[in-house]
Parts: sequence; C-alpha cells; structure tokens
Amino acid sequence: MTGEGEKSAFARGVWRAVALTLFPEMFPGPLGHSLAGQALEQGLWTLETVDIRAFARDKHRTVDDSPFGGGAGMVMRADVIDEAVRAAKEQAGDVPLVYMTPRGRQLTQSRVRELAQGPGVLVLCGRYEGVDQRVLDAHGAEEISVGDYVLSGGELAAQVLMDACVRLIPGVMGSSASGEDESFEAGLLEYPHFTRPASWQGREVPEVLLSGHHENIRAWRREQAEAVTKERRADLWKAYTANPEKSGDEN
Ligand code: ADE
Repeated sequence: MTGEGEKSAFARGVWRAVALTLFPEMFPGPLGHSLAGQALEQGLWTLETVDIRAFARDKHRTVDDSPFGGGAGMVMRADVIDEAVRAAKEQAGDVPLVYMTPRGRQLTQSRVRELAQGPGVLVLCGRYEGVDQRVLDAHGAEEISVGDYVLSGGELAAQVLMDACVRLIPGVMGSSASGEDESFEAGLLEYPHFTRPASWQGREVPEVLLSGHHENIRAWRREQAEAVTKERRADLWKAYTANPEKSGDEN
C-alpha cells in the first residue's frame, strides 16, 4: 500500500532502469554497492529486471534458434524478445529502449547526460550471437556499444551504462559529478591528481599545486589535460582544436 506522502517511485518521477536479461541474478551486482547502491537504497533511482526466459513459449523454455543463412552460434528469437519488451514497457512506462551490442554506436558522456536527464532506460541484454534484428527495428531500439571489444553478454555493458547515468542523477554524487573538471566535460581527458604525502618515495607533487596560486593551478591543469588528450586521444584532440568551446558537447 502506498499512503499519503508516500508516493511510489514511478509517481515521484524517479529515474528508472529496467534490465531485460536471461540472467536477472546478475543485477544489481556492482550497482548495489557504493554510490549507486546507496542511491538505490535511498530511492533516488529504481532498478528492476525482466527475465527473458519467462516469455519463452515452449515447454523447453527456448529463447534462441540457429541463424538463417547459417553460421556459428544462436540468435535470440524476435517473438520471445517482443513479449519481454512489451512487459518491460508496461512496467517502466515511456522510457527509451536500448540494446547493448558491439555493433552499436559507442556510448559517450553526452549520450549518458541525455539519458540521465530523461525518465530512465530499458536495457535489453543480448547473449549468444545477438538478437533477431526485426524486433530491434520494430521497437526502435537504440543500439549502444561500450567499446571496441566483445563481452560474453550485454549485462556488464548494461551495468556500465546504468552506472554512468545514475551518478549524474541529482543528489547521487552531490555537485561533483557535473563538475567542469571531469574527463570529457570540456572535450578533454582529465588532469592528473595528487594528495598527501607531498613527497613519496622520492617523487614530488608538482610545485604549482602547493603554491596556493589558483590561477596558475587552473592553467597548469588545463595544460596537463590538453597534453594527455593530444597524446592518447587523437579523436578528442581533433574535435577540441576545431572548436575548444563546444567540443565537450559531443563527448
Ligand atoms: N555485448 C557484447 N559486447 C558488447 C559491447 N562491447 N558493448 C555493448 N554490448 C556488448
């Protein structure tokens, strides 16, 4: 029962995540710990799972079949996934549907920001060779990758996406998560960090950081951020040098 002044998470407009998966026991996993876990306990966001296997139609609970055209592995069936997605949509309301796949557009901080500002996310986690393309097209699923490598399933990728979003929800990290200094916020990787002791195993903290001169510290950090971005990320560096004011928007 939900009493007066004790509205459901849904009614309060809390950010909601739903994972569609063959392995619901993999959730909350790391999302149940640290900042995301505390925020979950505080009701700042909600996490539910939909067990895809519950929507299998036959007595063997089959969710996959061999690929048309031949080839290795199995493909998750459109009819089973469709039922699971419909049930998840009923549960979560009108939230964007994302399918985690190495074929997807690579996840960026700017897409994370957009998703975190929305009502939540419904994340379809693939296993085997993937999901029948027709059900992704039918539901207008956005295909997202977490990097150019292949995981054994979408669950870890879904947790990466959810974690990146949850830390941006107001109240989860205080003001620091939206700070201008974070990697990608200005289209640059972040400058290096140091704390006590000032001298450690013969290695000294850069002098400027001990100076108390805020303007010099700011300039030094910007130089460091630019240098590491130029060295490690030609793609980010190109966008930044083309338009230093705006390049954070695309990342
Ligand atoms: N599933 C398997 N590999 C993946 C990746 N790199 N990104 C998103 N989902 C995946």
